[in-house]
Parts: sequence; structure tokens; C-alpha cells
Amino acid sequence: GPSGLGNEVVAVINKLQDVFTAVGSSTAQIDLPQICVLGSQSSGKSSVLENIVGRDFLPRGTGIVTRRPLVLQLINRPASNPSSAQTNGKPTTGDKMANPDEWGEFLHLPGEKFHDFHKIRDEIVRDTEAKTGRNAGISPVPINLRIYSPNVLTLTLVDLPGLTKVPVGDQPKDIEKQIREMLMKYISKPACIILAVTAANTDLANSDGLKLARDVDPEGARTIGVLTKVDLMDKGTDVVDILAGRIIPLRLGYVPVVNRGQRDIEANKAISAALDHERDYFENHASYKGKAQYCGTPFLARKLNMILLHHIRATLPDIKARISSQLQKYQAELLTLGGGPGEENASNVVLSVISEFTREFDTTIEGNTSDLNLNE
Ligand code: GDP
Ligand code: NA
Ligand code: MG
Repeated sequence: GPSGLGNEVVAVINKLQDVFTAVGSSTAQIDLPQICVLGSQSSGKSSVLENIVGRDFLPRGTGIVTRRPLVLQLINRPASNPSSAQTNGKPTTGDKMANPDEWGEFLHLPGEKFHDFHKIRDEIVRDTEAKTGRNAGISPVPINLRIYSPNVLTLTLVDLPGLTKVPVGDQPKDIEKQIREMLMKYISKPACIILAVTAANTDLANSDGLKLARDVDPEGARTIGVLTKVDLMDKGTDVVDILAGRIIPLRLGYVPVVNRGQRDIEANKAISAALDHERDYFENHASYKGKAQYCGTPFLARKLNMILLHHIRATLPDIKARISSQLQKYQAELLTLGGGPGEENASNVVLSVISEFTREFDTTIEGNTSDLNLNE
């Protein structure tokens, strides 16, 4: 996507998905994982998701802003004219311009296209209030939003309410338990990649997100640590020890990020400006400048890309086996009943696309992932 998920990966995965869809085969499906954010209230979860997607559309702020799960389905859809896809690929132009090829649609408002992403945010707020009131109430009923764009990977991201302990406003007495149960529904799925968000100006040992992630993913096979608010740490302190795995080691490691602060939100600071600021921050900070390429939102997005590719690579042998056996069945039928050659051709196309992807993965992608600590 614009700032986020890399174009090559988008192209490769969408090609596989397209070819599978074209075959219409239920035996051949890439089950892409869902990505969920997990962490304490106001740790920066919505901000992280927004930066990954590269669009301003999620309600963010102090206090409990995200009060229902938001299931965000990104759907890749080719541009109607190729030049608009290119402009749109750059985050510097993406924030303000309405692009005819890019829109959002809510499940509860079928057929209504939102081209203005600020209006999407207004609708999220409106529907949250309609279902939970204005006084900090929560609800497990998700808001379902689809974003259609030529620049996204067909993928599902879930923005979740934060873990909180003390009820405020209209919240029930057992708010902690209710939110926990709401989160568990999403993060306990083995195909869920967890972004465990912790504000860097709080103690990692007290991280609610990491604690809950460990309950459902004790091996750390699908948990990425995200450290937000690195810019708000006390002078002279940094997250270097955490990154080096000396505090609470995580198999997939940690990525430090700098999102927009509350004042930036109030001043409507654009995502592109925020990403520039983030890069400058890490490149010029004494603690991080030697490792700036491993810091920030673009690196987090790259890491997610690689995890997705590894996931797909791991599922391909099984898909391939199923297609091959289907193909054998067709060939047998062809001998006895004279079955359609179309099916056979389609299966062969799928197999060759899979082989192409596998070859590409093994020769170029796999070797580039050593710096992402994915191969432990
Ligand atoms: P959520 O409740 O976890 O979804 O957190 P939000 O994304 O709504 O952010 C909560 C508040 O923290 C907002 O005022 C954000 O502007 C602020 N915030 C989030 N990340 C950062 C960061 O990296 N740096 C700074 N300075 N503020 C941040
Ligand atoms: Na918040
Ligand atoms: Mg939020």
C-alpha cells in the first residue's frame, strides 16, 4: 500500500489469489492471516494500523476511542486507469486527494461508497456512538469496513479496544474481563498475527499486550512487538536493550515507531509528514542512527510482508498437492467421461503460478529475511 505493504508482495499475492479465484476452486485458497493490534488503552494501536495502511481514517486520541472491534478488509482492485495507480502509490499525494479507484464501504451501509477517508472516520464514530452511547461504553459487535484500492494487499486488519482496568462512564464493572474476552476471540486464532503494542515510555514488564499475547502464543511464533511513543521517553533513555532481546525476548523481535502525537492529530498533520518525521527521528538519534533501517513504520510493514510471504510459502505445498490430485481426478474422468479440458488447463495454470512463486521465494525472498529474525 502507499506507505505500507510493499508493492511487489501485493502483486505476487494478488496474482496467486486471482488465479485461484479464476479457477473457482475451493481446494486452492490462500488463507491470509488476520493482523490484530493488542495493547493497553492509548498505547497507540489505532495510530500504528493507520500508518501501516497509509491512510487517515481511524478515530484516535486520548482515552477510550476504539470502543468496538473494527474489522478492516483491504481488497485489491485494479485501477481503472494505470496512471492513477501510480500517483496513488506515493504517500505524499495520497492523504488529501480523492482517488476514484479507492473507496471504503461499510457492511451496515451497503452500496454507499466513501471516497473521502475523513468521512469514513466520521461514520466509525457515528456508528460506535449509535451502538454504545457517548459515555465510553463498549461493545463486542464489530464494525465491518472494506477498503477497495489498487494499492493494498487483500488482507484483513483488526483494530481492537485497548486493555483497561478501571471502569469509567457507562462501562460495566467487569470492563477488564469483557475487553479481555472480546480480544481473545480474535487473537486466539492460529492465523492471527498479533501486533503487541507497548508505549516505550511505560514499563515493558507491565505490558498488558505482551502478557495476553504470551497466553495465546507462548512460542512467540506470531507476535511482533511494537514500541510506540519512543519520542516521549525520558532524555537519556532508549529502547536499545529491548530491541536486543535483553528485557523480554520475542522470537519475531520488536520494532520501535514514532506516530503522530495528540497535538499532531489536532493540527491534522498528514501521514506523509508523520512518516518523514519518524525517519528523521531515528536517523538522527544517537541511540538509533546506526540501526535506523530497523526502526519505524516502513520496517514494520516490511516485516509484516515477509511474515505473510513465509506464511504463504508454508501453505503452498499442501495447496499444490490438493491441486495435483484434483488434476489426476480430471484426467481420469477425461478418459472415462470425456471431462472438460478447461478444468485441466486451469489447474495447470495454478500449478505453474505456484511453482513460479515458490522459485522466486526460494531464490530471492528467503535470502533477504535474515535481518528480520524470522528464521530462528
Ligand atoms: P489506541 O488507544 O491504542 O488506539 O491509541 P491511539 O492511536 O488512539 O493513540 C493514543 C494517543 O497517543 C493519541 O493522542 C496519539 O496521538 C498518541 N500517540 C500514539 N502513538 C504515539 C507516538 O508514537 N508518539 C507520540 N508522541 N504520541 C503518540
Ligand atoms: Na486511545
Ligand atoms: Mg484505538
